Amino acid sequence: MASKNTALNAAAKAKQDEFYTQLSDIEKEMRYYRKHFKSKTVFCNCDDPFESNFFKFFVLNFNKLGLKKLICTCYAGSPIANQQLSLFDVIELGEENKPYKAIITTVYDKTGDGMLDMEDIKELFRSGENELTELEGDGDFSSPECLALMDEADIVVTNPPFSLFRKYMATLISRKKSFIIIGNQNAAHYKEIFPLLREGKVWLGYNHVKEFIIPDGTIKKFGNVLWYTNLDIKKRHEEMILVKKYCSEDYPKYINYDAIDVNKVANIPYDYPGKMGVPDGFLETYNPSQFEIIGLAESSLGQEIGFSSNLTEEECAALFKENKSFRRGNPIYRGIDGKLHKPFARIIIRNKHPEINKEK
Ligand SMILES: C[S@@+](CC[C@H](N)C(=O)[O-])C[C@H]1O[C@@H](n2cnc3c(N)ncnc32)[C@H](O)[C@@H]1O
Repeated sequence: MASKNTALNAAAKAKQDEFYTQLSDIEKEMRYYRKHFKSKTVFCNCDDPFESNFFKFFVLNFNKLGLKKLICTCYAGSPIANQQLSLFDVIELGEENKPYKAIITTVYDKTGDGMLDMEDIKELFRSGENELTELEGDGDFSSPECLALMDEADIVVTNPPFSLFRKYMATLISRKKSFIIIGNQNAAHYKEIFPLLREGKVWLGYNHVKEFIIPDGTIKKFGNVLWYTNLDIKKRHEEMILVKKYCSEDYPKYINYDAIDVNKVANIPYDYPGKMGVPDGFLETYNPSQFEIIGLAESSLGQEIGFSSNLTEEECAALFKENKSFRRGNPIYRGIDGKLHKPFARIIIRNKHPEINKEK
């Protein structure tokens, strides 16, 4: 029974990983990073070269972006492999479904038909001007041969398997890679990921990705997927314009932490010098020169920054008795209605330059 469950879990995980990014979403995000690509090697390491729109985007914009090299590897058993352009048309492969790597160093109108398309890319593989070869292993991003390719690359760009997001991010960070990757918004709350956002090692890109293609070719909508990067982008230096003045009635204080609750990012007061709990949409507009991120008010991460450390066991027990969803690491305040409120997903921040004297 246990093994059946394990197999089902593995299948569920694999299914969760099989959705593919549309070219329009890649184009929409990449235009903010253009300057970073000049003379660089880009690696797409969860991407079947003839199926992935990441490969398509970078190979067809290879000259425009001034890339030095594009490397692309695919994973054994990807259900969409070989659907569009049969590899057997291009190279002699040993076994069917063996993963392979594509290495692009030159892109031009090889067919001479006056335009650049995937037919040219195929011909450039055939002629040996670019390389398409089998991998030795299964194409796992953490396999030695894929890590060696990552070490050679400057920037990793892809939509990695969501089920392996923690491991994937840890790999990028440990190899000190620049990256632009797609991930679930909830991943910002993982105890392995949040500290990277707080410490300024990772931040959020520009867009949400709302639709993906699933293996049967249809579109599936997602509500909370966005881009993670560590490449410098303009919005990280733009100050949020704050228009609300602090007054104690509008901003309740938490019972279990010395901070006020701000119900909307747009309501962050310009003149409050202390700690504030803000919704996690804040991460999308975060400018580290304007604000300091202190922590995440959630479970163990909340307790780490001192949530509920001001309360006795008895006080915690009384809060729990009154509101069963009280958690020590999460914020709670008493509203003007006299009831306990437990705001969801608060990031604890501090304004580095509160405008205390704005009206004077
Ligand atoms: C979310 S899909 C995205 C595919 C492609 N990057 C795109 O955006 O269209 C994730 C891909 O990673 C592949 N994959 C799963 N586990 C992997 C691993 N350990 N190493 C490399 N790729 C993996 C899956 O087969 C799947 O094709």
